[in-house]
Amino acid sequence: MAAKGRIPQYFIDDLLSRVDIVDVINRRVSLKKTGKNYSARCPFHEEKTPSFSVNPDKQFYYCFGCGAGGNAVGFIMDYERQDFPSAVDNLAHIAGLEVPREELSPQQQVKQERRKTIYDLMEQVSAYYQKQLRSDPQSQRAIDYLKRRGLSGRIARDFNIGFAPPGWDNLLKTFGDTEEHKQQLIDAGMLIEKEDGKLYDRFRDRIMFPIRDNRGRVIAFGGRVLGDDKPKYLNSPETDIFHKGKELYGLYQARQNNRHLEQLLVVEGYMDVVALAQHGIMTGIATLGTASNTEHLRTAFRYASELIFCFDGDAAGRKAAERALENALPVMEDGRRIRFLFLPEGDDPDSVVNRDGAAGFQKLLANAAPLERYFFESLHEQTDPDTLEGKARLSKLALPRLQLLPDGVFRQLMLDSLANRTGLSRQSIDQLLDEVPAPTPPEVTAPAAPEQRRSTQKLTAKLPGSQRDPLLFALAMLLFNPRGAATGPANINNSEDSAAATLLNNTIALLRKRPDSSTAMLLGHWYGQPEYEVMTEALKTIELLGTELNDEKAEAAFFDTLAHIETQKSTQVLRNHVDKLRSGNEVDKPASANYAELSEADKQQLLAIQQLLKQKHRL
Ligand code: GTP
Ligand code: MN
Repeated sequence: MAAKGRIPQYFIDDLLSRVDIVDVINRRVSLKKTGKNYSARCPFHEEKTPSFSVNPDKQFYYCFGCGAGGNAVGFIMDYERQDFPSAVDNLAHIAGLEVPREELSPQQQVKQERRKTIYDLMEQVSAYYQKQLRSDPQSQRAIDYLKRRGLSGRIARDFNIGFAPPGWDNLLKTFGDTEEHKQQLIDAGMLIEKEDGKLYDRFRDRIMFPIRDNRGRVIAFGGRVLGDDKPKYLNSPETDIFHKGKELYGLYQARQNNRHLEQLLVVEGYMDVVALAQHGIMTGIATLGTASNTEHLRTAFRYASELIFCFDGDAAGRKAAERALENALPVMEDGRRIRFLFLPEGDDPDSVVNRDGAAGFQKLLANAAPLERYFFESLHEQTDPDTLEGKARLSKLALPRLQLLPDGVFRQLMLDSLANRTGLSRQSIDQLLDEVPAPTPPEVTAPAAPEQRRSTQKLTAKLPGSQRDPLLFALAMLLFNPRGAATGPANINNSEDSAAATLLNNTIALLRKRPDSSTAMLLGHWYGQPEYEVMTEALKTIELLGTELNDEKAEAAFFDTLAHIETQKSTQVLRNHVDKLRSGNEVDKPASANYAELSEADKQQLLAIQQLLKQKHRL
């Protein structure tokens, strides 16, 4: 079937400027005017007090509770559970417009087909593996294995568990009938190409766990051996549609089973997720053999306000917990909860539920340590808080981590708790905290005009730490006032290869092409793509700044922030240069050993750089 052409961007822009988001949302959720904005209880998560707000000026909505956000089209998509074209149709109908379609260029058609095909193919492959589990002559071993591990046919079906039979070319023969199909299988990570060009199946004689993305599409597989062979698990490689470091196994199923998740259990393995589900605990999610990173946690927190990490009670588990803690601190906004569960040595959630049942596991869960308890207990293990020296060490270890917490009540309570434990006053704690070097710049400042700097400083001072990432902040300012980019640079030369950096550049590029784009249009441009989530993060910044923000301030702040990013970068370059030029560790005096060997020009340069750095430091 030929791919349907895209809905042209001009039409979507036009549509967004004709409908009013307040009207669109108010037809479905009763809105109350609160100042400049409108508010309601969020339709996307359960809540008692309204944290959902609609901004009529900028035509977007945002929820502080669950992070949902977007423009009118996005709202229809999420609320009515419609895909993009249907949501556009829906709005066009209200506006009395006909939806036009673009002609696709042959290349575009190919590209669109290819992505679509890869998803389709993965779905078919998954169905094939499931069928083999039922009917392959060799599958009895696999069925026995799953039974031995306590899984019923029903749960195997719920998770679409399958079987890749032994043999080098089952998939190749079944799906690789043409060159094109072979290439698709390679692109999907299902076939491996040998040096001599020969192809063979990646997964052989393994139990197959399909990995689904947020929308339920099969994007990869994990395959487990039936015995003790190595490697125990084989995962799909990174492909166009699979990015290992982002996905959470089981999240889709958890969401399918509970519309309003309160809690998610972060476990280590596929089998843990499935075994928990077998015992009626449908809230397990697992990273794919990697430690959980901040992005994983942000994703999980979009659907549940409490995460419980389940770790083995051994040394490896302790280490994993330390890493999880580091990644969790920056996302601990008020209203979110994290707990840590350490299982008895040698156990994992799978072995616990199979031995002690759901009730046994729940009993352990009930005693999981809240983040605050785990945080201080793990530090107490490294220090003796009864001695003065131990107290000093405790605050030294704790502060750089507490610094990672976003502003809010939780941060304040943690600092209070540190004060109690060390006997230091809150004032001294705050002072010490100020001296801790920030992981990201605590405030967006710039070497530009002093008045401007103050305005941005005042603005960002209200933001929690996690919202002060300068790239994200620049993006937010651009989103608020897209015209602000008009006189700016064509791209931000950032060495950091972050999602925010890329998106910032793409947004600037888009605005150069379509300078009249509004906030809602920008949001529409990336709806449904990973970039969109970065955009909703940025929206939050705007909402937090509330009435303080206007177009002028946003534009000034945008440029301030760019300048700040520039300074940060050049400071780093200078620092590296100085490190090379001097040895010793006194900042003011170049150490003589190397200094004597420097050429006169280098000496001059060094002094100049040091002056500059000092000046910047003072700023
Ligand atoms: P069972 O041994 O079947 O109970 O599996 P498990 O899910 O409990 O696995 P385990 O706790 O040993 O490992 C946790 C997760 O790490 C697995 O689910 C995999 O994602 C990953 N993993 C474990 N072993 C391997 C391996 O050999 N290779 C790769 N790539 N990943 C692995
Ligand atoms: Mn296990």
